[in-house]
Amino acid sequence: MKTKKLKKKNFTLFIISLIVISIGIFNGINLVNNKSNKESKQVINKTSSKKKKLEKLNNINKKISYFNEEYLDRYIAYKEKNKDLNDKQIIKNVNMNLDKKFYENPKEAINQNTELVLVNKYNYLKEDFIPENLQSINSNYALGNMKLVSYAKEAFEKLSHAAKQEKLNIIAMSTYRSYNYQVNLYNRYVENDGKEAADTYSGRPGHSEHQTGLAVDVYNIKETYTNFENTKEFTWMQEHAHEYGFILRFPKDKVNETGYQYESWHYRYVGKEIAKYIKDNKISFEEYCATVKK
Ligand code: DAL
Ligand code: ZN
Repeated sequence: MKTKKLKKKNFTLFIISLIVISIGIFNGINLVNNKSNKESKQVINKTSSKKKKLEKLNNINKKISYFNEEYLDRYIAYKEKNKDLNDKQIIKNVNMNLDKKFYENPKEAINQNTELVLVNKYNYLKEDFIPENLQSINSNYALGNMKLVSYAKEAFEKLSHAAKQEKLNIIAMSTYRSYNYQVNLYNRYVENDGKEAADTYSGRPGHSEHQTGLAVDVYNIKETYTNFENTKEFTWMQEHAHEYGFILRFPKDKVNETGYQYESWHYRYVGKEIAKYIKDNKISFEEYCATVKK
């Protein structure tokens, strides 16, 4: 009787072990299957995204020197919406961020404290950014205490001195402006004219080139600065500003790129070589940065 009971117990144990082992094997197989399924899915995904990327790459001329693979999706999307533009224009415009709205997802400006810094509606300086080596312009060439970064200050004094030799007055009337100064200025403009209008002629705080210490608004003493375009001094600036490293920063025909109305009085120091290139090629600083600067 006892041995019969023992046999039954052993048999039950045997069956249970069998079941446990079978479940184990089954799960093991499933695990391996799942893993290899996952892996093959990943391989398929990888191949199809590679294929998609290749298709996109074939859709745009990647040999253009300023093509940036990081922006590939944006080039393709922009091209789809702007069928009349050629690949050079597509790449240049996207490099300038023109596929985005002004002030949409702006980035902190690169090349800070160099003459290459680009500050505009897409690139900003932080509230606490103060340029290194600010110096006051000689009072013969400035309306009050006007500061620029040392090398821009020296270049401006040379420019103004050269103009003076021809009996022309090119006087700095607004130069470095701190973030907080721009806060007050911009708010005042918004109060007077509304935000939409203010944005056409004034940088929002952090987005004004004046915070770089490389920008200067000029006038000729006799005329208000908004009339600078109609002065002999303006004609002189058109011919000579680049010889001292300055460019007209917001030209009449570049409003869509700069985001600002024409300002005949606002000049930006970029150095002689770049200033000459920009003048010779009739491009804006935005276009220069999008096509030449590395
Ligand atoms: N007036 C120029 C655009 C500025 O505010 O920086
Ligand atoms: Zn200005």
